[in-house]
Amino acid sequence: MNEKFVITGGKPLSGTVSISGAKNAAVAILPATILAKGVCTIENLPQISDVRLLLNILKELGAKIEVIDTASGSIRIDTSEVNTCHATSQLMTRLRASYYFVGAFLGLCNEAEALLPGGCAIGKRPIDLHIKGFEALGAKVEIENASLFASAKELNGADIYLDQASVGATINIMFAACMANGRTTITNAAKEPHVVDVANFLNRMGANIRGAGTDTIRIRGVKKMHGCSYSVIPDQIEAGTFMLAAAATKGDVIVQNLIPVHMEALTTKLIEMGVGIVRGDDYIRVFNDRRPKAVNIKTLVYPGYPTDLQQPACVFLSIAEGTSTILETIFESRFKYVEELRKMGANITVTDRLATIKGVPQLKGTSVRATDLRAGAALIIAGLMAEGETQIYDIGYIDRGYDHIEDKLLALGADIRRTKVEDNEDDHLEYIY
Ligand code: EPZ
Repeated sequence: MNEKFVITGGKPLSGTVSISGAKNAAVAILPATILAKGVCTIENLPQISDVRLLLNILKELGAKIEVIDTASGSIRIDTSEVNTCHATSQLMTRLRASYYFVGAFLGLCNEAEALLPGGCAIGKRPIDLHIKGFEALGAKVEIENASLFASAKELNGADIYLDQASVGATINIMFAACMANGRTTITNAAKEPHVVDVANFLNRMGANIRGAGTDTIRIRGVKKMHGCSYSVIPDQIEAGTFMLAAAATKGDVIVQNLIPVHMEALTTKLIEMGVGIVRGDDYIRVFNDRRPKAVNIKTLVYPGYPTDLQQPACVFLSIAEGTSTILETIFESRFKYVEELRKMGANITVTDRLATIKGVPQLKGTSVRATDLRAGAALIIAGLMAEGETQIYDIGYIDRGYDHIEDKLLALGADIRRTKVEDNEDDHLEYIY
C-alpha cells in the first residue's frame, strides 16, 4: 500500500526511546541459519520489511518458521528440511542482503544459485569482493541472466585480502569458510558491530571464528554446525538516527538499549556541534537547545563515522551556525536526498562525494520523497525540525530498516502520522531522478 508520513514540525522530542535489534546483523543471521540444518531461536529481531522478506524466502526454501513472541522479536527457525541450494525467488531482488544465501549455501553444500540482490540505490555496489573470496576458497563462480552460480568439489581454506573493508563480503566469506577444509584468514576485514554479531552467532552454531572486530579474521573449518539460541545486538544506526532527531528538534531524549561504544563516532561529533551528551551503560542521553556549530564529517568504515548516519547528520547541519562539509568516502552517490532538502530551504551544494552545507536558520515544511532508506529517515528528521507541515512519500524505504518508527516518535512527542496516498495524489511532485 502506498503510504506517506505527514509531520508537523517544531515539537522538541523528549522522553525515552528503546532501540530495536540491528537490521544489518539480522539480515545476515537469518540466511546463516541454513548452515545449522537445525533449529535456531533468534531474539530481538527488528520488525522491519527486510526481515519479513528474508523469513518469506526461508519459508520458500523449506524452513519452518514459528513466531514465539512478537513483542521481543523472538522467532524459531528450523532449517533441517531446507534441501535446496537454489534461491531463485523474486523476493531475492528486493533487498541487498539476499546475497548472503550464496555464502550460506556454498558453506553448507559447496553449491549455490541466487538471483542477484537489490538494495538502496546509493552507488554501483558491485559484489566482486564476495566473488574473489568464494573463488579463493575453490568455488567456480558465474553470473548469468541476473543470477549468480557458484560450485566447488570441495572448499579449502585460503588467505583472502579485501581491497575494501566490505561488510557484505566479510560476512559472506565467513559463511562460505565456516565448514571449508582448513584455515581461512580474511585481511582488511570489516569491523562493524554487526559483523562481530554475525561472527558470534556463527560461533554459537559451532563455527570456529576468531578476530571478528579486528582487521584480520581467522576461521578454522569445522565438520558440522548446529542450531542455537541467539539475541541480536541493538541497532547502531537506529540509535544514531534517534540521537540526531533529539538534537535536531532541540529536545532531551534518553536513547536506551544501545551499546555506547558503537556510537562513539557520532557522540563525539554531536559534542563538537555543541550538543549535550550523557553516556550511560546501555543508554545515551541527548539534549540540545540551540542551532549546532558547523563541523566537518568524513564517513569511514567502523570505528569511523558511519555512512548510514551521513544523511541524518546532513539534515541537522543544514541549520548550523556556519558552513559544514560531509565527505562520503564509502558510496559514490549517497547525496540524492539533498535535492529534497533544498525544497525545504537547505543551502547545500554537492561536488562528487563532497557536500558543502551552508547553515540556514530554519527549514520549511513541504512535500518530499524518500530516495532510499537512510534518506527517508533523514527527511523525517527534517520534517520534525521544520516550520509547518512536511509530507514524505515513498516511505516504504523507511519501513525496510526502522521498526515502528512513527510509534516511537509519537511517544517522544512528535506530531507524525502515517496515511494512505490517494491515487495520483503525488503526481504534482517533480520526479527529478
Ligand atoms: C552494508 O552494505 C550495509 N547493508 C549498508 O547499510 C552500509 O551502508 C554498508 O554495509 C557500509 O557500512 C547491509 O548490511 C545489508 P559494503 P554492503 O560491502 O555490504 C564497495 C543501510 O542503510 N564494494 O561494506 O553492500 C561498495 O561499492 C545500508 O542499512 C565493492 O567494491 O556495503 C562500497 O563502495 C545501506 N565490492 C563499499 O565497498 C564488493 O564486492 C562498502 O560496501 C563489495 C563492496
